[in-house]
Amino acid sequence: MSVPVMTVPGEPPAPARTTAAVRATGLRKTYGSGETAVHALAGVDVTFAAGEFTAIMGPSGSGKSTLMHCLAGLDTATAGEVWLGDTALTSLRDDQLTTLRRQRIGFVFQSFNLLPVLDARENIVLPMQLGGLRPDPAWFDAVVARLGLRERLRHRPHELSGGQQQRVAIARALLPRPDVVFADEPTGNLDSRSGAEVLGLLRSSVKETGQTVVMVTHDPSAAAYADRVVLLADGRLAGDLADPTAESVLDALRGLGG
Ligand SMILES: Nc1ncnc2c1ncn2[C@@H]1O[C@H](COP(=O)(O)OP(=O)(O)O)[C@@H](O)[C@H]1O
Ligand SMILES: [Mg+2]
Repeated sequence: MSVPVMTVPGEPPAPARTTAAVRATGLRKTYGSGETAVHALAGVDVTFAAGEFTAIMGPSGSGKSTLMHCLAGLDTATAGEVWLGDTALTSLRDDQLTTLRRQRIGFVFQSFNLLPVLDARENIVLPMQLGGLRPDPAWFDAVVARLGLRERLRHRPHELSGGQQQRVAIARALLPRPDVVFADEPTGNLDSRSGAEVLGLLRSSVKETGQTVVMVTHDPSAAAYADRVVLLADGRLAGDLADPTAESVLDALRGLGG
């Protein structure tokens, strides 16, 4: 059944869609079947506003990584929909999804995932090159300067500290000017000083360039860098905090029994 779109002369147009960067509805992910099935995501509805820094938290096994991977198109859900702006990821063919991931999604992993044989510059531009895209030189310079990597571009990963490697990974994620950057425990392998640096850089890319960032962390003081904290428990949403502090996040986590 199709419903005609009605326009009434003289009436203002219908309100524009909300500026959600990413949205999931009825998201489910089940591993296995029958009695041994694991419901990693048991029906998640969540929206991430454009230009916001959100942290996803919850006990180990609550579905945080699964949610991120489904939102980023790295994994397919069992049911439900994921929208990146007005694009339904679930409706795309594999090749379309690959293109979309290269152009519109950045991903930062806990373990950096840099190619050891390439130097920092080559690692940063590789995904765009693979997609046949030419990085904007001025934007490349701006990203590299912002991340403090100008003197490190010729270094290979083993010649860089953990914090520097993660900054290379963030530069790689930011270079295509993606709609959203996802980061799964980006400070998990870093000492606290490098971790704070990385978090500050993610936050400033949100504040200064309007980048949308969604980050998984188990560290309340890392979550306090975000504008919002979404809590997961047993594959479901279990809380939503605005303007989090380390204390308010800890209280919310205690409330989950996590
Ligand atoms: N590939 C998989 N096969 C089977 N179970 C999985 C797989 N990946 C994750 N799970 C299960 O799904 C649940 C959620 O996992 P995950 O999203 O990694 O949680 P978190 O990141 O919050 O620790 C856990 O019970 C986990 O054991
Ligand atoms: Mg995880």
